[in-house]
Amino acid sequence: MLNGKWIGVKEEANVFVLEKKFFAGKAQTATLRATALGVYFARINGMRVGDAYLAPGWTSYNKMLQVQTYDVTELLREGENVLQLTVGEGWYCGGLTWQGKKGLYGKKSAVCAELIADGETVAVTDENWQAKESFIRFSSIYDGETQDLTADCARLTPCEVEFDKTVLTEQICQPVRTTERLSVREVIRTPKGELVYDFGQNIAGVAEIKTPEGFAGTITLQFAEILVKGNFYTENLRSAKATDRFTVQGAHTLSPEFTFHGFRYMKMEGAELPAASVTALVRHTDMPRTGKLETDNARFNRLIENVVWGQRGNFVDIPTDCPQRDERLGWTGDINAFCRTAAYQYDVRRILKKWLADVRNDQSETGKIPHVVPDVLGWKDTDAMWCDAVTMVPWTLYEMYGDLSFLSENFSAMKKFIAAREQAMVGGLVAKGHEYGDWLALDREILMKEDPVGRTDVYYLTNVLHLNTLHIAENTAKLLGEKESAKEYAAKRRELLKKIRAEYITPNGRLALDTVTAQVLALHFGIIPEAHRAGLAAALDQNVKKHDFHVTTGFIGTPFLLYALADNGYFETACRVLLNGDYPGWLYEVDMGATTVWERWNSLLPDGTPNPDGMNSYNHYAYGSVLEFVYRRIAGLEAKAPGFKQVKYAPHPCEGLGRVRAEYDSVYGKIVAGYQQKDGKTLYFAEIPQGVTAQIALPNERPFAVKGGKYAYERPSLQK
Ligand code: BGC
Repeated sequence: MLNGKWIGVKEEANVFVLEKKFFAGKAQTATLRATALGVYFARINGMRVGDAYLAPGWTSYNKMLQVQTYDVTELLREGENVLQLTVGEGWYCGGLTWQGKKGLYGKKSAVCAELIADGETVAVTDENWQAKESFIRFSSIYDGETQDLTADCARLTPCEVEFDKTVLTEQICQPVRTTERLSVREVIRTPKGELVYDFGQNIAGVAEIKTPEGFAGTITLQFAEILVKGNFYTENLRSAKATDRFTVQGAHTLSPEFTFHGFRYMKMEGAELPAASVTALVRHTDMPRTGKLETDNARFNRLIENVVWGQRGNFVDIPTDCPQRDERLGWTGDINAFCRTAAYQYDVRRILKKWLADVRNDQSETGKIPHVVPDVLGWKDTDAMWCDAVTMVPWTLYEMYGDLSFLSENFSAMKKFIAAREQAMVGGLVAKGHEYGDWLALDREILMKEDPVGRTDVYYLTNVLHLNTLHIAENTAKLLGEKESAKEYAAKRRELLKKIRAEYITPNGRLALDTVTAQVLALHFGIIPEAHRAGLAAALDQNVKKHDFHVTTGFIGTPFLLYALADNGYFETACRVLLNGDYPGWLYEVDMGATTVWERWNSLLPDGTPNPDGMNSYNHYAYGSVLEFVYRRIAGLEAKAPGFKQVKYAPHPCEGLGRVRAEYDSVYGKIVAGYQQKDGKTLYFAEIPQGVTAQIALPNERPFAVKGGKYAYERPSLQK
């Protein structure tokens, strides 16, 4: 529990400071515990406490609010000390969403803290603290921060703020930290005459600038992801101002506290600082890196980097859709698409455990799942993929980490969700409710006006994903020893499969829908009866070839596209799609200079101009989901039992990649898998942790078992 009152200020203040002088003896250990309705940082005797930014992070605050604990022993001195807490609006009461909603959780920001030295409380928030304005004059997540180091900070009136303390919980995920500093790659004078600094990489974070001695004035910084015709371009940020302002006299090192931007380029006005005085600070949830992939193909390696950066730019306390525009929301469909790739690349247990708690917190009474979590839109329904995050994300995490708590904590939410979907059924098939469909698919062949929903029948998608959700619920029930539930979901699954087949498979065994996504799902989720699998796989292969190996699938089809091909006899076709440099495709983005993964296949059109649609981000991770396929099916680094307690090494060389090496720090130790080609031979290699058994399945060979150790096998090359 946290002692102290919630205190804010009586006046309207976007940012304010609360301050307390106190006396302390010589302390062996001193701990500050604090949290805020808003965002905050603490200073003791003028020194910033800790290295976390945007604390206490973003949760569905009225249901769950994290408390931070800092070791401040080194900062305390014997005698008089000053504890200062600077508080901003953040996500709590600052503007959110493109609708500019303010005060979503409450009208007033506040803070609550206690300082304990050698077991004794030496300072605790109450209305007797001093309050004043801050040198941070304004701050907003989307719009940026204004600092005036020359301002007179007027006194304010502290007041107590009501807030229920029973929602407090200890910090669950790693904090947002500055994880890397990037120097300026190039200083640009644009055709319009703007002074622009290029950091060479699209990131989430802020910039740090250093003013020289003798400087006096205001410097304005603006942030952008791309240049268009060489000029600074911010249209795709929509209403997000992403502007920082610093008014200073003399030499200072400046960077914002309570905002972040999604950017590669920074425009400066009011000064012309040398490149050496400008640095980009990469900020995101500080998760341990767990996976690495490398190949001999430089363009493909860039794609891998782009997917890693896509995760870094979008795991900012919650898994977001994008870090730059007036959104940055926890879209459930996006993380559902990207979850397994995310879990290969980084240890995402803590951030997703926290996020799933809010999925449960924000689920409706009737079981509907919000489209964004924390739910700041109030949109809840049973949409395919978005709402299936409640079953698929926990299941993926269970498979990746073997931790049953992901299932036990979420099983009742899964059950409630299944009940909600049943309410949307007519005659045993889901036929009602909102759907995003195969979002942003480019398969409107009959050129209707651009339609983000794609061409695949939206309720086909929902029913197929519901089948998968039932399967997860059935397996979860089994693992949790809930035999009756397992039986119930198994029966529901069989019944639904029958209905889906009756509706979408012709009596002769053909799939009645012809989009790539429809075919992919029918193969991947076992909709097509086994007797007709080969026929459908051949039809999918033809369909992809008809599209010149381009990707036409959207958020639902894309994560499963290459599996459906490769697992049904068309591995080469999958590789052609993966390595296609034409538009639309993964390497098209790379060839167009992308340093992260785009929201749309055509975010940048072939002539280099941006997609004019208002919804256009250059840092969206959903299509980055393709890397899980590379880990699992190409490098062959796969779990055979949950958490990689048993490993499956099943590599398959992909023409055009050369050597492929994957490594992954599983909870049981480091696994390496890959292969390299040499003189018409392929050398397959794997490293299995001690105490773990592995099944080795080389192409076209009978699998066999090995124990922990290093292995290499030379075979004739598969490629002609
Ligand atoms: C977001 C998404 C999201 C979608 C929902 C967009 O505005 O950026 O990626 O999933 O809306 O359709």
